Amino acid sequence: MALILAIESSCDDLAAAIVRDGGEVLASVVQSQDKIHAPYGGVVPELASRDHVRHLHPTVAAALARAGVGLEALDAVACTAGPGLIGSLLVGVSFAKALAWRLGVPLVAVHHIEGHLASARLGEQPLAFPFLGFVVSGGHTQLFRVTTLAEVELLGETRDDSAGEAFDKVAKRLGLGYPGGREVDLAARRGRGDRFAFPRPMLREPGLELSFSGLKTAVALEAAKLEAASPAGKLAEPDVCDLCASFQEAAVEVLVEKARRALVATGLRRLALVGGLAANARLRERMAELAAELGIETLFPPIALCTDNAAMIGAVADGMLRAGEVAPLDLEAFSRIPAGATRAGAP
Ligand code: KG4
Ligand code: ZN
Repeated sequence: MALILAIESSCDDLAAAIVRDGGEVLASVVQSQDKIHAPYGGVVPELASRDHVRHLHPTVAAALARAGVGLEALDAVACTAGPGLIGSLLVGVSFAKALAWRLGVPLVAVHHIEGHLASARLGEQPLAFPFLGFVVSGGHTQLFRVTTLAEVELLGETRDDSAGEAFDKVAKRLGLGYPGGREVDLAARRGRGDRFAFPRPMLREPGLELSFSGLKTAVALEAAKLEAASPAGKLAEPDVCDLCASFQEAAVEVLVEKARRALVATGLRRLALVGGLAANARLRERMAELAAELGIETLFPPIALCTDNAAMIGAVADGMLRAGEVAPLDLEAFSRIPAGATRAGAP
């Protein structure tokens, strides 16, 4: 039996969780910084790490209190060691190292994306292995063959922007605020998805690579055209909704088609959609249609487990602890690091 305190601080969300035996989440606390970064329309790394310093101790204390667990009961301390913003990562890594040393328990260094994939194994009905893991978040758009949590193979990823970045940048351009993925999702429900024929990047090319930067630019150009044609020089609300719906149709179509290709190419019969974009209603709907068509099983974890959280880090750490994949106390943080590389403690 293992009781793990997990810390996630790789970007703008700060999270702590208490996880028992890899699957039972006793507490999961997330401290969001959306309000801090909203005025800038994107994450400001320096502000993110400073705020993590401010909130880490109370966030960990809140997780322990909520779980009704004392520090002495912990079997290990886990943290996200990468990839992410280096300043943000260092706050969690430094704290986890110090606490593991103080308690005399092992330190476990977890890869953030392995964490996202592990969210499919948390909750009431975990998805059985092997599965296709599609990470669609603000930072990443990657397809993985997940044989076990310890054996993940990258099959394809975006060449440029992540899908979440495209949603956020479109939202910013259309004046919908930050982070705007959810706002685009909501506006799209009131718009026409077939009004603008936006490009479907990488759909004609074979393979599993993706790209979202051109699509985002196409939306910005169309918005500029509409503004120039309007007497007030501004976008009318129906135009904003149609732009959102048409953009979303293009982005979702590409994601669904790449998932289809990956499922067919690998022969995998299960699909997990994880990361913040898994909250998108249209994406869920189209992925569910794809699953029905192919007769495969799907899992869309609850939103709280899809967006950045520490429970998913604890889930990965449990298996690593059992396998003896423990990190040294001079562990560093890594802004870029491939999946699997934190398992040796350091790459
Ligand atoms: O996984 P996440 O919390 O953070 C990263 O690890 O990046 O994902 C956040 C991303 C943001 O880009 C946000 O705009 C997007 O997920 N997002 C959505 C929706 N809810 C969150 N995008 C589209 N539709 C949504 N409903
Ligand atoms: Zn993430």
